[in-house]
Amino acid sequence: MAKKKIIITIDGWSSCGKSTLARQLAKQLGYVYVDSGAMYRAITLYFLRNHVDWTDPVKVREALQEINLEFIFNEASQVSEIYLNDENVEYVIRDLVVAEKVSEVAAIREVRSFAVAQQQRMGTRKGIVMDGRDIGTVVFPHAELKIFMTADNAVRVERRFKELYAKNPNITIEEVKNNLEMRDYIDSNREVSPLRKADDARVLDNTNISRDEQFALALQWAEEMIHHQK
Ligand code: DC
Repeated sequence: MAKKKIIITIDGWSSCGKSTLARQLAKQLGYVYVDSGAMYRAITLYFLRNHVDWTDPVKVREALQEINLEFIFNEASQVSEIYLNDENVEYVIRDLVVAEKVSEVAAIREVRSFAVAQQQRMGTRKGIVMDGRDIGTVVFPHAELKIFMTADNAVRVERRFKELYAKNPNITIEEVKNNLEMRDYIDSNREVSPLRKADDARVLDNTNISRDEQFALALQWAEEMIHHQK
């Protein structure tokens, strides 16, 4: 008999390694991986490019009607990449220009309803790993496995700095630190679905464990949950 599929949610602070873990789990289990943060980043990119005044809810609603987001699996890189109105924006949305504004945009009620509705549709057949900030609390409150990731600030800044420096050697550690702190602050203090640990989420602190150890632990949790499905 085919194994029952589950929904796995991974939430947590910026740059905790959520997407790395989510990708590994999805690959191992043959599940779909969805990077919900990429959706907020792509919406932000659209707003910036089109000079949308996102303080005006009417303008925001109009702009959202013009936005079509899609994830398409790239065979070569073996990851799903995000398309904004048929343009692959997987890489441009990682720029600091977008990162500086994304928390502001992600705090807008209309933007969240737009993204959450799409995320919930992607999970209707289960067999999905989704990472973000509100996936275990708002998007899939009944997910079978919820993981909340955390790591020391200094470790997170260092990791994100290395990632961004590889693409842009002009970037400074101060810029990265300020951006990370600002995003964590806005993400966890906003009115609509703030970042918080779901009561039934398991905490994974990866400050002092390797990627392999972290993956082994999360996979064990996932297999236990899959095994328990009737
Ligand atoms: O995971 P990330 O750093 O790519 O996310 C970008 C921003 O999007 C982050 O600062 C907060 C927001 N976000 C959110 O509010 N809810 C989610 N489910 C995912 C991301």
